[in-house]
Amino acid sequence: PLVTSEKMLTDAREGGYAVGAFNVENMEMVKAVIAAAEEVKAPVMLQTTPSTVKYGTLETYFAMVSAEAKKASVPVCLHLDHGSSFELAVQAIKAGYTSVMIDGSHEDFEHNVELTKKVVDVAKACGIPVEAELGKVGGKEDDLEAEEDGNTDPQEAKEFVDRTGVSSLAIAIGTAHGFYAGTPVLDKERVSEVKELVSVPLVLHGASGLSDEDVKECVRRGMCKVNFATELRVAYTEAGKKLLQEKPETFDPKKLGIAGMEAVKELVKERMCVCGCNGKA
Ligand code: 13P
Ligand code: ZN
Ligand code: NA
Repeated sequence: PLVTSEKMLTDAREGGYAVGAFNVENMEMVKAVIAAAEEVKAPVMLQTTPSTVKYGTLETYFAMVSAEAKKASVPVCLHLDHGSSFELAVQAIKAGYTSVMIDGSHEDFEHNVELTKKVVDVAKACGIPVEAELGKVGGKEDDLEAEEDGNTDPQEAKEFVDRTGVSSLAIAIGTAHGFYAGTPVLDKERVSEVKELVSVPLVLHGASGLSDEDVKECVRRGMCKVNFATELRVAYTEAGKKLLQEKPETFDPKKLGIAGMEAVKELVKERMCVCGCNGKA
């Protein structure tokens, strides 16, 4: 069924594992992620960024995800990733999204608090949990280029959560969107430090390019949601390219879709096991 992210994330926090959150772009990726969740019995979050929403519309992603979630035995959540404005967050809730992120991390602290609080007030009234972000995750996510070096301050994180009433918090610990240039340097201690002060589930962005060991240690220290985007897009497209190389006569989009789905499903199952959410649904 389609559910909010509230219980799945608090269950993860209590259980010491993380829910995998997977960015989807099309019907094939939606089906692949939910099929993976069914196979390993995991709660799952599917998410779309503003540029994905622009590509396919909120209503269309909602229609696809809710149709598939209805058939699923595991809990499925549809989340707005990196919500870029109050308006988009409200539109997502109106379209049926069951979780939203408002990303005010590019603002200064006070403006981030203000924007996040504004979304929380509306979303809470609708029963929809809100994820916010404090600190700077590196790399390029969607159309936003973040600068490097801006790990989350634990004291600020506490103040931010207290003042906004947010349901979960994305923090920066040296993580970056996309693949990493060189070996990622993560401040994993910081996860424990923030967890100590903050009672809401913590979110790890930028998981593509991290080793299984890095993800596992971050989860052990308190990350309750882990976001995977780039590597799914790569797996999907590489599978299509491989098929076209092996069988250049291919013309049926379904054949390409099936190849992409298979690749994404296998990858998502692996990542779910790294997060420890397999068997938790
Ligand atoms: P990656 O593209 O590095 O997997 O980051 C995903 C993410 O944080 C989506 O919000
Ligand atoms: Zn992100
Ligand atoms: Na990454």
